[in-house]
Amino acid sequence: MARHLITSALPYINGIKHLGNMVGSMLPADVYARYLRQRGHEVLYICATDEHGTPAELAAKEQGLPVSEFCAQAHDAQKAVYDGFQLAFDYFGRSSSAQNAELTQHFARKLKENGFIEERAIRQVYSPADGRFLPDRYVEGTCPHCGYDKARGDQCENCTRVLDPTDLINPRSAISGSTELEVRETKHLFLLQSKLQGEVEQWVARHEEEWPQLASSIARKWLTEGLHDRAITRDLDWGVPVPADTWPELAAEGKVFYVWFDAPIEYIGATKEWADATGGDWKSWWYEADDVRYTEFMAKDNVPFHTVMFPATELGVREPWKMVDYVKAFNWLTYYGGKFSTSQKRGVFTDQALDILPADYWRYFLIANAPESDDSSFTWEHFTATVNKDLADTLGNFVNRVLSFSRKRFGDDVPAGGEPGEAETKLGAEISRLLAEYEEQMEALQFRKAAAALRALWSAGNSYLEEKAPWLEIKTNPEGAALTLRTAMNLIHLYSVVSEPFIPASSAAMRAAFTLPDDTATWVSADEARALNSVPAGTPFTVPPVLFAKIQDEDLAAYKERFGGEGA
Ligand code: MF3
Ligand code: ZN
Repeated sequence: MARHLITSALPYINGIKHLGNMVGSMLPADVYARYLRQRGHEVLYICATDEHGTPAELAAKEQGLPVSEFCAQAHDAQKAVYDGFQLAFDYFGRSSSAQNAELTQHFARKLKENGFIEERAIRQVYSPADGRFLPDRYVEGTCPHCGYDKARGDQCENCTRVLDPTDLINPRSAISGSTELEVRETKHLFLLQSKLQGEVEQWVARHEEEWPQLASSIARKWLTEGLHDRAITRDLDWGVPVPADTWPELAAEGKVFYVWFDAPIEYIGATKEWADATGGDWKSWWYEADDVRYTEFMAKDNVPFHTVMFPATELGVREPWKMVDYVKAFNWLTYYGGKFSTSQKRGVFTDQALDILPADYWRYFLIANAPESDDSSFTWEHFTATVNKDLADTLGNFVNRVLSFSRKRFGDDVPAGGEPGEAETKLGAEISRLLAEYEEQMEALQFRKAAAALRALWSAGNSYLEEKAPWLEIKTNPEGAALTLRTAMNLIHLYSVVSEPFIPASSAAMRAAFTLPDDTATWVSADEARALNSVPAGTPFTVPPVLFAKIQDEDLAAYKERFGGEGA
């Protein structure tokens, strides 16, 4: 059996993420990791905060904190939300860790040794008043295209045109406001990606058939446009320092690596952090790790970095580092058809979501509507309808109805009596078929289809109950009613096992209803499931509190009011 390495694109440190971010990287990875663990695979699921770069510096400045302090706090704040969502990372690290710095410097030294990094002089804006070179976005001025007077040196927010700082009219430093800017020559490290184009192409060709179309088409597009050499250093105070043993001059000038150079290396860095914290063996997952199957989760804007640029880096190092096997890429989740936006605070943020309702409501809705083949839209109406129908009616109501009715008529143990007949055979076959379908979709990482199969499993229980109608059966055939209820309780137990990847807290509550010796969440094969007899007659049970509360009309109205409804 393969060992599964799973990573989610590292959430950027500058703020709490919105639901779109959650569904495009972390949540599906967690669902997949939980599924594989339950099926008995060895899994390592790694994530971390992406902490370097100008946006981190800017966010820290806004809060009046030193960057290191800001990042430490922001990391903990994000971690708390992910715990709330029950994301079961094996480790949630930090790209500012010593482990990542060491690996990043190692990668850079090797790339230089192999002729893939060279120093080049470039002309860059220098601000004597600030005593530093200014990154593009630290230069502000008037846009030459639209006249907007707060355009940034990398892009004009007003007309969205991409700019060069020297295009700006009346440029000034965004830090001090100083207008005495100079253009000075300075040296940076360049990664000679153009030299690696052929190798990356061959590597992509070996994988693109298997990858989802979204990932392979983006990789292809970038390769067709051609890989360009890229500056991989910046003039910032915060970042992985250029190693002095290899580039003494640049190190003395305080140059650090560009955030997109060190961030993917943190997948390995965080695994080292995990190993240092737990005594685990990081190297067996990443170095000469042919027995490892590596799956990455990300939104589509991250695909070029993961299918082309980071692979180029790994290939250029000329060491047997593990490269990605499968790239699961997502489209955008929109908010009423518009953009979720961290900077403009539009949409629902993950911390707010948990303030409103428990994680399972969000986990289920988001995965069942994951933007897999296309963008998908979050609306409060759709969310409410899904929660009320699938979770409250189809699953929650089934669980409560069955358990409370049985307790009322037969007491606190699973009732004995009756022989399975035609209805049970039909149900068993249906369950077995749907479970096989669910497994197939999970293994293919088709999350919407997996959710549909899970929902169909829940519905099959309802159809069986309607057909057998134990509340009528009890009057004429109590043995028959006992059989129906016992079968339905077996379904509840099965649901508790197979729903775990989607709704872990509710699954635990369902499982805990039964007092079974040595019960675990171990998977049941589609064949075993057919028998529906893992909870025998005589098993004590309790009726759990209502699993899912319905969202009422006034709640819906309040959410729309608070977060903005259509046209937001
Ligand atoms: N922080 C980046 C983003 O939010 C993702 C980094 S993924 C990694 O888009 F590979 F670089 F780690
Ligand atoms: Zn403009």
